[in-house]
Amino acid sequence: MHLIISTDFEEMSGTAAEDFLFTLEKISKPVICLPSGKTPVIFLRNMRNYFSRHEKHPDWYFIGLDEWVGVGQDVKGSCRQFFDEHLFKPLGIPEERISFFNGIAEDLEAECRKAERFIDAHKGIDIMVLGIGTNGHLGLNEPGSDPELRTQIKGLSESTMVAAKDYFDEPKDVKQGITLGLKTMLESKTVFLMASGESKSDVIKAVVEGHVTPDIPGSFLQGHPNCFVYMDEKAASKLD
Ligand code: PGA
Repeated sequence: MHLIISTDFEEMSGTAAEDFLFTLEKISKPVICLPSGKTPVIFLRNMRNYFSRHEKHPDWYFIGLDEWVGVGQDVKGSCRQFFDEHLFKPLGIPEERISFFNGIAEDLEAECRKAERFIDAHKGIDIMVLGIGTNGHLGLNEPGSDPELRTQIKGLSESTMVAAKDYFDEPKDVKQGITLGLKTMLESKTVFLMASGESKSDVIKAVVEGHVTPDIPGSFLQGHPNCFVYMDEKAASKLD
């Protein structure tokens, strides 16, 4: 793991965004996977600014990381709506370059297979950016997740259900998610993990310095050969 500690959230997001763009410069039509949530908001703003400054459109392909089961793609709070707002619409990404879960599909297993097929057809994920839950989850791979599993439907942990409430304008009772599996995620060629704030300091310590255990799914990143952890000083404050 490569650890990159910045002064604050803004600087961390800027450094991660610069490194991300630098990595992708060398790859034609890369497949990328990004997290929704609070952590990537400034990182994504930097992406929008970069492309509007250079009057360019990226040639990227997108695979969705996760989605709430029972929530439609146009609902504010869905992961897809988050990316429509923060990235796809502003950057003019065409639909044919996006594979995203539909949380209200009748056949959710087919959604899982579709994601894996998209990744295979494009020869793997070039770069995956992740946030981390305070419980150590990656995507919606909650504590106890099997690192050998691919894309699947997962029950949400209590802390994720509570955190999810902040993402929706109206109360939503989400109990399950659809997520790329740890096996799929760990096969990405490069992984960036971002964490900001005091509330992430315990989990960052466990992810970076703790034992590798399904209790903290993020700890499996210790075994990834090309993983970069971007933190602000508060998130890094408990590291030895
Ligand atoms: P957050 O979520 O960026 O909103 O803190 C991270 C996560 O739960 O993976």
